[in-house]
Amino acid sequence: MLAAIWAQSTDGFIGRDGVLPWSVPEDMAHFRRLTDDQVVVMGRATWESLPDRFRPLPGRDNIVLSRHAVVLAGASVVPDVAAALHAVAGRPAWVIGGAQVYAALLPHTDRLEVTDVDVVSAPEPRPRTWEPGGSPSAGTRTTGGTPRAPACATGSAR
Ligand SMILES: NC(=O)c1ccc[n+]([C@@H]2O[C@H](COP(=O)([O-])OP(=O)(O)OC[C@H]3O[C@@H](n4cnc5c(N)ncnc54)[C@H](OP(=O)(O)O)[C@@H]3O)[C@@H](O)[C@H]2O)c1
Repeated sequence: MLAAIWAQSTDGFIGRDGVLPWSVPEDMAHFRRLTDDQVVVMGRATWESLPDRFRPLPGRDNIVLSRHAVVLAGASVVPDVAAALHAVAGRPAWVIGGAQVYAALLPHTDRLEVTDVDVVSAPEPRPRTWEPGGSPSAGTRTTGGTPRAPACATGSAR
């Protein structure tokens, strides 16, 4: 199983200027609960955005996508999607961001976990990036409809 997990603002953004534009402990606990003891796949920018004490994400096999020959302590660095899927090797795994990596790996996922966070992130209203066909439940959506990768914003939050 390859799943993707993210949290998005009311206007459909997942990040701003390289970081999460909110702090929601319940969502972090939800993320930890679902990904614990499993494989996580992320982009180099998301890796860089993690606080030092959570890098690598503890209790999880960290795989980082980068087109550069970087060495990241505690992570396996892979150069492309095929290598990432090879490294996952059929184990239960989560794509944990960011926007570039969701876009690259969504076609390979069979489950989405999306948390709606009740904040507006973009400087101007933007269309939602994912129109669900499934039923929302407790702020978390599972697959249904046509998933599209979420976006990051730049500029100051309002
Ligand atoms: N709300 C959420 O749930 C959530 C979750 C995760 C992240 N985020 C946010 O997302 C933002 C980061 O997203 P991002 O899109 O800027 O960056 P990203 O996807 O985390 O990382 C981008 C980097 O990953 C590597 N990469 C991406 N696609 C690749 C591919 N197909 N093959 C090989 N390498 C690939 C490249 O690294 P190199 O440049 O080293 O080649 C690229 O520069 C941050 O703001 C973060 O806080 C939000």
